[in-house]
Amino acid sequence: MNNSLPPHTLLPLLFSLTILSLSSSAHGFNLNSKCDTQDQGSTLQVLHVNSPCSPFRPQTPLSWEESVLQMQSKDQTRLQYLASLVAGKSVVPIASGRQVLQSPTYILKAKIGTPAQTMFMAVDNSNDAGWIPCSGCAGCSSTKFDSAKSTTFRTLGCQAAQCKQVPNPTCTGRACSFNMTYGSSTIAANLSRDSITLATNVVQRYTFGCIQKATGSSVPPQGLLGLGRGPLSLLSQTQRLYRSTFSYCLPSFKSLNFSGSLRLGPIGQPKRIKYTQLLRNPRRSSFYYVNLIGIRVGRRVVDIPPSAFAFDTNTGAGTIVDSGTIFTRLVEPAYTAVRNEFRRRMGKANVSSLGGFDTCYTVPVTVPTITFMFSGMNVTLPQDNFLIHSTASSTTCLAMAAAPENFNSVLNVIANMQQQNHRILFDVPNSRLGVAREKCT
Ligand SMILES: *[C@@H]1O[C@H](CO)[C@@H](O)[C@H](O)[C@H]1NC(C)=O
Ligand SMILES: *[C@@H]1O[C@H](CO)[C@@H](O)[C@H](O)[C@H]1NC(C)=O
Ligand SMILES: *[C@@H]1O[C@H](CO)[C@@H](O)[C@H](O)[C@H]1NC(C)=O
Ligand SMILES: *[C@@H]1O[C@H](CO)[C@@H](O)[C@H](O)[C@H]1NC(C)=O
Ligand SMILES: *[C@@H]1O[C@H](CO)[C@@H](O)[C@H](O)[C@H]1NC(C)=O
Repeated sequence: MNNSLPPHTLLPLLFSLTILSLSSSAHGFNLNSKCDTQDQGSTLQVLHVNSPCSPFRPQTPLSWEESVLQMQSKDQTRLQYLASLVAGKSVVPIASGRQVLQSPTYILKAKIGTPAQTMFMAVDNSNDAGWIPCSGCAGCSSTKFDSAKSTTFRTLGCQAAQCKQVPNPTCTGRACSFNMTYGSSTIAANLSRDSITLATNVVQRYTFGCIQKATGSSVPPQGLLGLGRGPLSLLSQTQRLYRSTFSYCLPSFKSLNFSGSLRLGPIGQPKRIKYTQLLRNPRRSSFYYVNLIGIRVGRRVVDIPPSAFAFDTNTGAGTIVDSGTIFTRLVEPAYTAVRNEFRRRMGKANVSSLGGFDTCYTVPVTVPTITFMFSGMNVTLPQDNFLIHSTASSTTCLAMAAAPENFNSVLNVIANMQQQNHRILFDVPNSRLGVAREKCT
């Protein structure tokens, strides 16, 4: 952990930075009629956890500085978790007393069981697992799935083939139980199955972990829908329905009211879209690796050693596209080169820092674009996708950072702030990732 960050409370972070003052009006109202929209076809509405329609929205507004620090702190835990997945060993639990929230940033509405029970599940594209807090769970939040009320619910036994794919399975009674870590939490669950309804699609016999016990604060309160590409993921379980294809468009950082979408399956995906190759690492099978080959600040290609981007199936090094990290992280030589070019373009303007951001200004930023150069595809980001502004203190920061130093991180992570207002298409059968500009709302 980056110990320069102050310890944080469990208050969910406030997301919107530019409309912080407006957002306070959102706290008073209950889920209004706009929040009752029904998902159509195979497309689901994706909400930020702090959106007015989210049951997890914060009760107390934070200052801009506080919210940025909270987002960075949350990212720190996320990155530590991703690094542990890369290294193939379990995350070192964070010292008790240091409460850090790691739950992913985006949620969607899913219906589980027969009759259906609605849960707001977190979306995580770097994870295969699906899990839901079940009735009787110790350490889960108040909304749980009542498995006894579902006629289609089954607990899987140890003989089930899927039991071989979960971490540390044990046979208690006849159930296949397993323990795993997620962020700073540990989870004990029974391998189970039930139907899950996503928009209007019913997926019969979806296999997931029915959480019996959870510790720590990282477990998303109403469950996790893993969209990773590994063997136990939703995609692997719905080959015929969704053909390992989905896209999302993450909502703008500018308003809590905006929502994005998750579109499952090949139907309705954009035709006009640029592609880069998806790389597969059999040892880290859930991640969506891509081949980042360079970065441009404005029109200048920054001088970065190719080793900073090298894909290595043994060490797990390379670049992933992740929906759960907020701000892009680059390995140290890459970040330093980008930042130095950014600062060079800002000339004599005084540079300041804010938490983990080391390139902040109180004068207007003149760098118009940053471009991620992938093999076969350049993605040019407008300022909204790489600058974070405070209207109150008129501070603007470059919203990226170096990969944390104090644990072995070899990953470049393209994070959700940089992906906002783009449709990102994951086309696993054709081993490609598509990116197109889109207004997500
Ligand atoms: C989970 O498994 C344990 C051990 O077999 C059992 O006692 C418990 O009732 C199971 N929970 C559910 C919800 O099936
Ligand atoms: C899993 O967690 C449960 C509850 O915390 C514990 O009793 C059990 O010993 C753990 N099993 C393994 C294999 O770690
Ligand atoms: C968000 O929605 C609320 C309630 O519908 C509205 O009062 C507020 O003005 C909206 N904020 C923005 C920034 O659109
Ligand atoms: C930068 O900050 C220093 C010290 O606060 C000040 O003297 C100087 O005028 C500032 N320079 C610019 C370009 O704002
Ligand atoms: C991406 O930009 C670089 C540098 O400007 C250029 O050389 C390259 O041809 C571009 N690649 C694609 C696929 O457009």
